Amino acid sequence: MFDRPKNGKQAVLVHMALFRESNDLNELQELVLSAGAQPLAVLTGRRNRPEPKYFIGTGKLEELKHVIQQHNADVVIFNHTLSPRQERNLEEALETRVVDRQGLILDIFAQRAKTHEGKLQVELAQLQHSSTRLIRSWTHLERQRGGVGLRGGPGETQLEADRRLIRVRIRQIRGRLEKIIKQRQQGRIKRKRAEIPSVSLVGYTNAGKSTLFNALVGSDVYAANQLFATLDPTLRRCCLPNDSELILADTVGFIRQLPHELVAAFRSTLQEASEADLLLHIVDCNAENRDETINEVNQVLQQIGAGKIRQLQVFNKIDLADGLAPRIDYDADGVPFRVWVSAKEQLGFDLLLKVLEGIYASSRIRKECYLSPLQGGVRASLYRHSQIISDEILDNGGWRLTIEIEKKHLGLLKDINKKEIA
Ligand code: GTP
Repeated sequence: MFDRPKNGKQAVLVHMALFRESNDLNELQELVLSAGAQPLAVLTGRRNRPEPKYFIGTGKLEELKHVIQQHNADVVIFNHTLSPRQERNLEEALETRVVDRQGLILDIFAQRAKTHEGKLQVELAQLQHSSTRLIRSWTHLERQRGGVGLRGGPGETQLEADRRLIRVRIRQIRGRLEKIIKQRQQGRIKRKRAEIPSVSLVGYTNAGKSTLFNALVGSDVYAANQLFATLDPTLRRCCLPNDSELILADTVGFIRQLPHELVAAFRSTLQEASEADLLLHIVDCNAENRDETINEVNQVLQQIGAGKIRQLQVFNKIDLADGLAPRIDYDADGVPFRVWVSAKEQLGFDLLLKVLEGIYASSRIRKECYLSPLQGGVRASLYRHSQIISDEILDNGGWRLTIEIEKKHLGLLKDINKKEIA
């Protein structure tokens, strides 16, 4: 019999340079702080590949024991993915709670989820993560708040119960999430029908998405200097200076090696990004690993089918660097691809809005419209405001028009039957 050690807050971090893995140690430290734990010491080393029993070699294991004692630590956090067996062997040998990178990220998500949907998604991901780790002899697991290690999620009491209960709960959550996903889809269909362009804010965690979102729409979505402050997409209308409207969506912060349970759990949330007309890719322009974070985000976007959506980069936090002023960067064809702003100090917003206006003003779409004989007036205004590609009289006395229209005039098509043409 083996009692799992309790959750902890005083952490020793383990970071091994592995042949094929390149997790960032600074990022781990930030993740640990975000989870509310205190990194006391870091144990580093180098291996070609993980050792099956403890991930690290026995020499390192002894060293780790020593560091734990020295710092009186109560949790060990690995910057790697551990197998359930490795996690258990380590806990047994160290008599200290062990959490791997995925478990840590799940913990952070569990703390941050705010809406009903977000909470369900995280609970589902935690249950899936822990069901692979459910070992019968891990009895008397105590549910404790305020430390790292399966906090606040499915609850270890359920782990104690048995796998069947977990399966029932997973089914329940899936059912509830399906309902929410349906509602979300209906919302999206309605917005599409209303022809309002949707813009999703995406970016590496802590880049400043929520701050920018709040500043643009004047709402107060939670913004905090913690990783993953945002877990649920939030939708708001945003008016451009020329009075055209956008729907802005704030989405979940991305991170390297997002645990796959989480990518799956957040699929519905991320779908908001995959169906956007435009992605505002927010980047902390001062981040040491800025280019890497941009690549990471692009990779996740690819995974969720949003790799081909037009992007506008927003290089944020210019107030933190000397000599940076708001500006727009243009590509060789004179098309803007990046705007430099400070979301916090509200610098460069005029430029950002100007670029957005330009994107939507110049974005024409082609439509096929069916007008009834009573809609002669609509036909006249279409002649005024759009380019007529073809105009045909129908047997019923109405018209079939193929037009190219700017998105800002789409309101004209409100009451007519139409079809989008690629
Ligand atoms: P996640 O929820 O982790 O995805 O983060 P996010 O991208 O939504 O970042 P958030 O808006 O929560 O901002 C993260 C931190 O950066 C907060 O402390 C903000 O106050 C700070 N921040 C955001 N924009 C700026 C900026 O333009 N300048 C400065 N100095 N700080 C900023």
